[in-house]
Amino acid sequence: MTKLTKATITFDNGAAPIELPMLSGTLGNDVIDIRSLGKHGVFTYDPGFMSTAACNSDITFIDGEKGLLYYRGYPIEQLAEHCNFMEVSYLLLHGELPNAEQKQQFTNTINGSTMLHDQLSNIFRGFRRDAHPMAVMVGVVGSLSAFYFDTMDIRDAKCREISAHRLLAKVPTIAAWSYKYNLGQPFMYPQNHLNYAENFMHMMFATPCEKYVPNPVLAKAFERILILHADHEQNASTSTVRLVGSSGASPYACISAGIASLWGPAHGGANEATLTMLEEIGDVSRIGEFIKRAKDKNDTFRLMGFGHRVYRNMDPRAKIMRTTCHEVLDALGLHDDPMFKLAMELEKIALEDDYFVSRKLYPNVDFYSGIVMRAMGIPNSMFTAIFALARTAGWIAQWSEMVSDEELKIGRPRQLYNGCTRRDLLPIEQR
Ligand code: CMC
Repeated sequence: MTKLTKATITFDNGAAPIELPMLSGTLGNDVIDIRSLGKHGVFTYDPGFMSTAACNSDITFIDGEKGLLYYRGYPIEQLAEHCNFMEVSYLLLHGELPNAEQKQQFTNTINGSTMLHDQLSNIFRGFRRDAHPMAVMVGVVGSLSAFYFDTMDIRDAKCREISAHRLLAKVPTIAAWSYKYNLGQPFMYPQNHLNYAENFMHMMFATPCEKYVPNPVLAKAFERILILHADHEQNASTSTVRLVGSSGASPYACISAGIASLWGPAHGGANEATLTMLEEIGDVSRIGEFIKRAKDKNDTFRLMGFGHRVYRNMDPRAKIMRTTCHEVLDALGLHDDPMFKLAMELEKIALEDDYFVSRKLYPNVDFYSGIVMRAMGIPNSMFTAIFALARTAGWIAQWSEMVSDEELKIGRPRQLYNGCTRRDLLPIEQR
């Protein structure tokens, strides 16, 4: 971080101008350092953090105008092509790609922690069978604090590392078990000779009665989904993890909060919402009606899986997932499936329609990942849970970075108060 030049704020009420430093990172926009502004009796107003950098970070870089995404400087296209999810997780956590020995050691460490404390199965059993997997995950991941409190000293780098490994290892088991519980099938224990993606597929799809062999095309597609969703800068759920963690909270509580934030349909819930929308549209002949609704200012309906807060160009993850989507549909012979035909037609129309083109609303990664997961036989309700298990890698990297940052301050935004000014209460009989 270098100090560049200065910015000056002037006021038209006669107050003295304020000079503020400007900071420059290695890539991306310069920022005005407003930390001293409060001393002058003014704050900034920026709901939704449209123009506010809340932290400095070395992990992920996005250029939304150009459609670029880098993890630790590596373009997402190269990582998706040449790495597996363990290498990408190591990269996010440690800042460098592992060599062969480090990769093996890291994989062994994660594999060694994939099982859950046996008593955790009782926590699952406290939920209704028909509970949404994300509701179960918020609860069960949060409950890890009650099981693994031996490493709660977050100021200790070793404790932080152990918590990070445990989360990376156990969240897939929790996600798969939330599905098994919903189905009423027995929980399947992890098989540590399988890779991360295959192991998750095994825990989701295997039963004790039959041997399960993961389809290699689907396992590769699943690995891609994990890599593409692993981190995405300071999005809503990552910012939630940071805000919760800024008070010194347990890492398990922080990740549980991240899962809660991710669940919303404007964020990670979009992949599930996309498939629900496609089911509602039902037939190619009804696309026009839904496009019309999406454009209508008086209708709250939005085309799910389209648009992004940061990308004003095609999301690079969406480009990769689009290719994977076609690979999976080919491998499974599903190109003629009516739902996939409908999705492809919707994509075509939205890419040509002036409303979407002029607003730069491209299909996003969740549009394609939803289609891929459906083709793989994953139910809609599990889509966001899978997003959560991928994003756990990014959340813990961001959390670790924040906790070890010397500039860490508890997150505490200001507000523009618009409520009543001081008034005196009336006794209840006079109100
Ligand atoms: N369908 C129809 N119109 C849209 C859509 C959409 N999906 N997205 C944005 N618009 C319109 C919006 O009405 C506005 O129009 P106007 O300028 O006439 O008022 C304009 O485009 C700009 O929209 P915005 O709400 O200011 O954009 P935003 O940056 O605040 O919202 C978004 C981004 C992702 C929340 C939004 O595009 C959206 O709701 N998309 C659908 C949900 C979705 O797919 N979310 C997944 C995002 S990718 C996964 C992730 O990284 O979490």
